[in-house]
Amino acid sequence: MSLIKLCEEYILDIVKKLGYDIDNAMFEVSSRKDLGDFQINICMSLAKKYGLNPRELADRIIQEFDNRFTNVNIAGPGFINVSLSDKFLLDYINNALIDFNCLIDKEEPKSIVVDYGGANAAKALHVGHMRTANIGEALKRLAKALGHKTIGDVHLGDLGRQSGMVISEIKKRKPELVYFDSNYSGAYPKLEITPEELAIYYPEASKDAKENPERMEEVRKITAFVDEGKEPYFSMWKDIVEVSKNEIKKTYDLLNCNFDLWEGELSSLAYIDDTLKVLEPYMYESNGAKVIDVKKDDDKIEIPPLIVVKNDGASIYATRDLATIYARVKNYNPDEIWYVVDVRQSLYFEQIFRASYKSGLVRENVKLAHYSNGTLNGKDGKPYKTRDGGVLELNSLIDMVKDEIRKKMVKYEDNEESRKIIDILTIATIKYADLLPYRTTDYIFDVEKFSSFEGKTGPYILYSLVRIKSILNKLDYNEYSIKDIYSDEEKNIYLKVVELSKVLKKSYNDKVTSYICEYLFELCSLFSKFYSEHNVIGEQDINKKSSYIGLLKLVYGVCESLLDILAIDVPDKM
Ligand code: ARG
Repeated sequence: MSLIKLCEEYILDIVKKLGYDIDNAMFEVSSRKDLGDFQINICMSLAKKYGLNPRELADRIIQEFDNRFTNVNIAGPGFINVSLSDKFLLDYINNALIDFNCLIDKEEPKSIVVDYGGANAAKALHVGHMRTANIGEALKRLAKALGHKTIGDVHLGDLGRQSGMVISEIKKRKPELVYFDSNYSGAYPKLEITPEELAIYYPEASKDAKENPERMEEVRKITAFVDEGKEPYFSMWKDIVEVSKNEIKKTYDLLNCNFDLWEGELSSLAYIDDTLKVLEPYMYESNGAKVIDVKKDDDKIEIPPLIVVKNDGASIYATRDLATIYARVKNYNPDEIWYVVDVRQSLYFEQIFRASYKSGLVRENVKLAHYSNGTLNGKDGKPYKTRDGGVLELNSLIDMVKDEIRKKMVKYEDNEESRKIIDILTIATIKYADLLPYRTTDYIFDVEKFSSFEGKTGPYILYSLVRIKSILNKLDYNEYSIKDIYSDEEKNIYLKVVELSKVLKKSYNDKVTSYICEYLFELCSLFSKFYSEHNVIGEQDINKKSSYIGLLKLVYGVCESLLDILAIDVPDKM
């Protein structure tokens, strides 16, 4: 259990012993360090509840404190300020050195499906799809670290216009293939298509179809065939999706985004009939389409009815999301389903969630939540574009950052080891930059700034860790423990480590990774300050040396586990 939680339970016991009752003791990190390191803010509300004088109550509470706290004082109307005694702090920190788990408070385990990534098959991953992948992966790992059971699903966009585009391009380039021969009656072979072909087919077709209405009409027809599961296009498309999936996976692997499930719109088709049966009593016809009303009396904005089935009877994005919910409930019985998807789909998800609860597709106690993210913009503050105005492919962004990192590492020779370091730094640069801003805000992707070795950047954090690693390698030791706190720099680090449980809890509650990124930066900066003021390697006093080693191990361990949550690797050297 974390030190903060230990203290909260301790205070609750005291309050109970005095004959009162509260739910939460709120042992808060103080913003007024001059008054104490922590603050207990329960006296005002408790006094109100029981008709007492808050300062007198605070006084009675502090009479009960044992020597874990020092510098106990009451401020203002009844705030209790305390600092931690060195012994109490040291015991806890040494415990943490043995078992890092005591720094984190596990939650009551829930089973959570995380829908993130959301790449579209047959199209290259573009930068717009990066944030949902990075944030989703981190939130999933955070949930796991706090004790939840998670299932990550990429929810591939593997149905839609792109099927018609790609198949029509194949038809144009290879009309001799049997799929396009209406007299052919044999079994259709598996479609052979290379990733290189795939990469150009969609953009080519899309460009042509925009200028040529006949081509667009053909695309529409083929798409409808695929959507309805008609052969041979349906099987062709599935073969295309497989090739595309492999390519998409390579990029996600680079970003350390690992999905448990590679399902998507295609895999939801098997559940559409069952889903529509559940929805049927709640749907009505409107202009030939089947819709479901989802507005509520207290809506501040207008929430239009959700179209579930189009007027031609075909399923659409929404039908497939509803069917996916049906499948997830049936197959995994989750307590929560999270959608880490761009903010532009907020209204859509609100409609989907309402339709799901209303129709009983999910029980009320299953939490459906959209954790939306803002966009990644170029220097002009608009969504990142290539020079010719197209959307920037994610691989191009990765290359851009890699070039910048390479430039910064001039002293490196071009060999296997350096290339690996550059790869790790590249991904760390991108991911830290992507996870640092508040989830819902847009941010400008500044390649130079983000790849800098100073400031709030991935390379800075990694540099700090590599430095600790190399110091530890230089020190000769078998055993270590923290014997005492010899300076303020050390104390500040230990107090920061104590804060970890709060940071993780807040990140989890708000589903915001920024707090973790900020914390990492603060901890690394505190370490840097400590290191510049103390001669760690040359220290002769064996107790001090042992304590310093403990401190280094602690800082390293905490940072490493947080980077693991953010899905950022640490290189062996830099
Ligand atoms: N493929 C979609 C897109 O590119 C994102 C999918 C999000 N997840 C979902 N269950 N709808 O916009």
